[in-house]
Amino acid sequence: MLTLGIETSCDETSCAVLKGKDTILSNIVSSSLFRHKKFGGVVPEIASRHCMEQIECVFHEAVRQAHCKPSDLDLIAVTQGPGLIGSLLVGVAFAKSLAYQLGIPLVGVNHMEAHLVANFFGTPEPKRFIGLLVSGGHTMLTFSEKGKIHILGETIDDAVGEAYDKVAKIMGLSYPGGPIIDKLAREGNPRAVHFTRPKQEARFGFSFSGVKTAVLYLVQGFKKTPSPLSSPPCKRGRGEGEGAIKKRLGVSTIKDLAASFQHAVIGWLVEKAIDAAEFKKVKDIVVGGGVSANSYLREKLTRDAAAKGIKVWFPPFEFSTDNAAMIARRGFELYQRGKRSKLNMTGDPGLTIS
Ligand code: KG4
Ligand code: ZN
Repeated sequence: MLTLGIETSCDETSCAVLKGKDTILSNIVSSSLFRHKKFGGVVPEIASRHCMEQIECVFHEAVRQAHCKPSDLDLIAVTQGPGLIGSLLVGVAFAKSLAYQLGIPLVGVNHMEAHLVANFFGTPEPKRFIGLLVSGGHTMLTFSEKGKIHILGETIDDAVGEAYDKVAKIMGLSYPGGPIIDKLAREGNPRAVHFTRPKQEARFGFSFSGVKTAVLYLVQGFKKTPSPLSSPPCKRGRGEGEGAIKKRLGVSTIKDLAASFQHAVIGWLVEKAIDAAEFKKVKDIVVGGGVSANSYLREKLTRDAAAKGIKVWFPPFEFSTDNAAMIARRGFELYQRGKRSKLNMTGDPGLTIS
């Protein structure tokens, strides 16, 4: 059985062909990231236009690399939400027309659920597990049992990936900030700045806007003294460009800030994920979403969880960020459980986990 996966929830346009549950015949990703860089974040209109321009050729390339024809496809799985409405509508409209034309079933998929199953290609999944979903739009802890996913808690403000991107922008770094901060942090001092933990958090909830604001104030207040904390106030001048911020801060301060920020936020994620696993008495934590590519998260969570006898799953790097293979996989699973979406299905930016 061949499933075509289609993913257009944000700035990527991706199509994949999956054979059965595990064999990825193709997985094509066209990113519009380079078009957003100068804005320091994703511009929804640019993202959806890119999806519109790319979807047809990405589809044909996915089918070509899978050595099949459109008429060989048996099922179409498409991201229904959550995401940016303009981008979602491109994928959903394309999927519906193709399903109608080919006369094959269609399944709408939740993007966040798909991030979890990105871990399970070619390997049996645990029966009960904690999900740690960390992306540019979401941060949540989930509990999966008997195929059902329950949300234990989520962020009340920024997502962790969003915090990475915003903090990078504040420090005059490029977009997306996650991988850049991850790299710089390796050479910085994680104890240069202590960020206090948000107080209002629920046991399994998160909040990242406070740490982002703390970084902003530090950057504004930093002139050229070695410690950001002891520096005299120097408000960021109007129109101070990214290059100027970087110059004012200096490379070693940027590395220290990156390391301290990363040390704080990853520490909170790790602590809460392990707490959730102990609370639910499960032995597996499954991580999904773009921030699952983070080297410190991978290292710290694996180490700290192992000390408690808990196994941590991380997707292969190519499936950490958005891709259609994971959508095809989740769609196939749902199809096997009897799910069918109607042709009047539409994109849902706020789709929640079922
Ligand atoms: O899952 P994803 O590709 O898109 C959404 O569904 O949002 O996640 C993108 C997010 C961005 O915020 C990006 O900065 C972050 O993942 N990211 C990382 C790393 N690689 C990507 N964050 C921290 N460390 C990384 N290595
Ligand atoms: Zn994602």
